Amino acid sequence: MAEELAIHGETKNDKYLSLMPQIKALTEGEQDLIANLSNISSAIKYGMNFFWVGFYLVKADELVLGPFQGSIACTRIKLGKGVCGKSWETKQTIIVDDVDQFPGHIACSSASKSEIVVPIFNSKSEVVAVLDVDDDKYATFDTTDQKHLEDLCKLIGSWF
Ligand code: SME
Repeated sequence: MAEELAIHGETKNDKYLSLMPQIKALTEGEQDLIANLSNISSAIKYGMNFFWVGFYLVKADELVLGPFQGSIACTRIKLGKGVCGKSWETKQTIIVDDVDQFPGHIACSSASKSEIVVPIFNSKSEVVAVLDVDDDKYATFDTTDQKHLEDLCKLIGSWF
């Protein structure tokens, strides 16, 4: 297995196009969910140079912090709370340009300025986890991030 990913491309779309096949290769042949989510967090954070990347897993009536890369984060989020809880509740990807403008945003780090949260579905269309990507700049995320991260989350959903 390669020790480092090689991300090529000038545009964000090109970088994702370079990153995603490497993530697929990295996780192929490995059945362990935590191992794969851990490597995916690292691959996205360091491949795309975001501030924080991680997963929250649905456990009973809460989201519980799973594998992530970045500074320490809050461990439990209730349905409908913050961006992650809202994504879980609405079953929608949510893009926030300025977290201070999002009602109920949970500030794990004051350095985080914008974020995207993508729900992950099992085969019964239940949300089983969310992917949370934060950046320390405003308005980092757009439909390019949404497309590539939603495609990735479809793959991840097939592991549940
Ligand atoms: N931003 C999230 C909380 C998790 S941390 O940012 C890692 C939210 O409001 O859902």
